[in-house]
Amino acid sequence: MKEFALINGKIVTHEKVFDGTVFVKDGKIDCIKEGHDDAGDIEKVDVSGKHIFPGLIDVHVHFRTPGGTDKEDWTHGSKAALAGGVTTVLDMPNNDPPVVNQESLEAKRALVKDEALVNYGFYAGATGDNVGEIAEMKGIAGVKIYMGSSTAALAGSSTGGLLVDDLQTLEKFMTETDHLLVLHAENEACIREYMRQFDGQEDPAVHSKIRDPHCAYEAVKDALHMAKKYSRRTHLAHVSTAAELDTIRKFKEDYITAEVTPHHLFLTDADYAQYGNLIRVNPPVRNPADQVALWEAIKDGTIDMIATDHAPHLLAEKNRPYSQAPSGVPGVQTMLPLMLNAVNDGRITLEKVVELTSYNPAIKFGVLGKGLLEAGYDADITIVDMELKERICHKFLWSKCNWSPFHNWVLQGFPVMTYVAGNLMYEWRDSFGEEIGQEVDYG
Ligand code: NCD
Ligand code: ZN
Ligand code: ZN
Repeated sequence: MKEFALINGKIVTHEKVFDGTVFVKDGKIDCIKEGHDDAGDIEKVDVSGKHIFPGLIDVHVHFRTPGGTDKEDWTHGSKAALAGGVTTVLDMPNNDPPVVNQESLEAKRALVKDEALVNYGFYAGATGDNVGEIAEMKGIAGVKIYMGSSTAALAGSSTGGLLVDDLQTLEKFMTETDHLLVLHAENEACIREYMRQFDGQEDPAVHSKIRDPHCAYEAVKDALHMAKKYSRRTHLAHVSTAAELDTIRKFKEDYITAEVTPHHLFLTDADYAQYGNLIRVNPPVRNPADQVALWEAIKDGTIDMIATDHAPHLLAEKNRPYSQAPSGVPGVQTMLPLMLNAVNDGRITLEKVVELTSYNPAIKFGVLGKGLLEAGYDADITIVDMELKERICHKFLWSKCNWSPFHNWVLQGFPVMTYVAGNLMYEWRDSFGEEIGQEVDYG
């Protein structure tokens, strides 16, 4: 199989940035040489002036197969991922039908297998009565538990029957299964109470009032209390408030991890005026003080990773009145440009971006062979141009929903080439449709 070398680039790991050459052979990294090297007589790709990242791993996407393929499918979702430098995605189970047992997982697996251009893994979803079936499941990234619904009953969300709003059931998942638990931690009763209070209001900004920070705090506190009691591996999805972060700091252990989304890092409730329902998402965008707390938590290690919660909905659905619009924003293509722009603004380092978007996701989720540029690891590689300054435009967005809250944002720093298993799958604004994505293994 193909052998080549990436020459004249700057290699970025979670620890350092250095001049180096990456030798690729048979879909794997053959070796890394520090300093510049002429690479002998094998094929060379000159990446002078560019940075070489391990391919990004997004542990939280909704690619909508089966049942929601009008919003997203793997052809579009994986191209959006590639254009965003993302080479592996872990896909959520809130499909129609939802992934709730081995049988529904196999059905989804069969559909995705020949459509994925990136590597992938799948979650199963917890319900009130499937803990036994979940305990038996094989080959999943983890179990998604919605402590608060994002369901149709709660106006326009898409989590279907996946809801575990009682702590007894949560406790069963903690004690009777071995899988990684990924929590959507918003307290259901709390949300319902605020819904009654704000019933009838159609200003999209009411979304952040209905799903008050207190609802997230309550759920996180309950979940972490329980996780600590059982020393139970637990991951908190989309942490968005200072109060959650304080709680995580109090309970933090190696087995407790947390993610933050780009939309919570870059949008606040002040943005409803401009974007309306486009930024309606669960948990909601928060106030600027919460956002400052998220950036601090990235710096001090309270937050382990950035994941997109890429949750596409149709523009036509988003254009409905607030009470009928679905929650969720797409993000898999824009995460890396937003973070690289933040590097250029001096808000974060390149090493930290790699730690948050590939190294930690691989290590903390046990994704084998990924997250590091080292001999023997998979040649999933993202080439970054830190000079390139461009306007985000829906014309160049691959997601089937074809919009982004970041449309028209001018950013500096973009992925320009993306390799999956040593295959060039994307080159600036051009994607190559080979369905070579493989399901990942976990260790
Ligand atoms: C998600 C979706 O649309 O699938 N929406 C969201 O607002 N995050 C559902 C979810 O995970 O809550
Ligand atoms: Zn969620
Ligand atoms: Zn989600």
